[in-house]
Amino acid sequence: MKNFPDGFYWGAATASYQVEGGIENNDWAQAAQAGRVPPCGPACEHNSRYEADFDLAKELGHTAHRFSIEWSRVEPTEGVFDPVAIAHYRRVLTALKARNIEPFVTIWHFTLPLWFAENGGFERSDAPEIFARYAAFVVEELGDLCAHFSTMNEPNVFGSNGWLRGSWPPFKRFAVTDLVSITNSGKTYESQADRGLRPLFTYFRVMKNLARAHNAAYEAIKKRAPQTEVSIVKHVIVFAANWNPFNKLKAAVANYIWTTIFMNRVKNHTDSIGLNYYFYTQFGDNRTWKKTDMDWNFAPEHIYDALMRLAKYQKPLFVSEAGLADHDDSDRAEYITKQIAGTWRAMQDGADVRGHLYWSLMDNYEWALGFEKQFGLIKINYQTQERSIRPSAYVYKEIIEHNGIVE
Ligand code: BGC
Repeated sequence: MKNFPDGFYWGAATASYQVEGGIENNDWAQAAQAGRVPPCGPACEHNSRYEADFDLAKELGHTAHRFSIEWSRVEPTEGVFDPVAIAHYRRVLTALKARNIEPFVTIWHFTLPLWFAENGGFERSDAPEIFARYAAFVVEELGDLCAHFSTMNEPNVFGSNGWLRGSWPPFKRFAVTDLVSITNSGKTYESQADRGLRPLFTYFRVMKNLARAHNAAYEAIKKRAPQTEVSIVKHVIVFAANWNPFNKLKAAVANYIWTTIFMNRVKNHTDSIGLNYYFYTQFGDNRTWKKTDMDWNFAPEHIYDALMRLAKYQKPLFVSEAGLADHDDSDRAEYITKQIAGTWRAMQDGADVRGHLYWSLMDNYEWALGFEKQFGLIKINYQTQERSIRPSAYVYKEIIEHNGIVE
């Protein structure tokens, strides 16, 4: 039996733009209007169906749920906050509490209000102050209903897709990036990016500003609500190597660039760290990997390596996302079981993991890839908005009920 500690959080995650529907006032909606990414439209109508969706999460045994606040709803105009949007998120939090589901709130998950994006977004030198003002407002308004806040989701993915690959807003592509492929960027719309050498330098600036923004938000929140847990959600790619010393060097450099640089900038301003794990790649690897629907290596057990990498920062950790796209649900149960086994192993080796949130509770808008990729424990029929629970969700439920894996 692979047992987890009492009170370990089990659940799933979503993000505002990917599930809510009806969001028109952000950079992704604008990009969709311009034909640069697929339209998101009503998405899963989670904005009005959240109660029923949380009933399903409850039925599946979940004790925690991660979701994000849509910045463009809360601050639709610079410096003007919308009480109606806040009232909505208070109802969402209350609905979770009523079901005894512990909320984990991400303050910002990729999408930017138009006013901010159109004025340079995170390229701006005053972006950290603008972000910190928004983050502090959110915690001030919602902090009595939620104990765990993450400032931002996956800064490295946001930066690299926006300024290196140019496949996400603001579509700036570093010309040399044709050589590498990073995560869920999508291919269809890439050709419309502005190519050049300058995006590389802008990318460095953006990455620095994101770290500054996280740190400023951390301080602003702590000033008002010192007890609130504030974390960063970090996407970790595990770069590994075979025996070859040259490959080992390549892996060390890649890990340093993707994970260490950013973590070093924020490590003194975070109470805990959320891990988003999807990727394992080995330099000098001749194996033929089984692939997920995203064409990513099927390597759930290597969540172990990602957790051990973050354990170095000696903070409580939680799996804020991990999962796979699997349209016919043929591999999801195995994947979930193995990623939980990998998490358990990391805990035996000292990683202080407090929870596991599968990505995602339901199918949703997979960014530049639209609605085709299906990550959900719950399947969505986008024509009828009908929900159906996939068989793998019950395998996860059994693990939750045993608080571990029965062998
Ligand atoms: C993101 C999610 C995304 C998932 C699957 C993560 O990079 O936080 O928004 O849907 O991966 O690609």
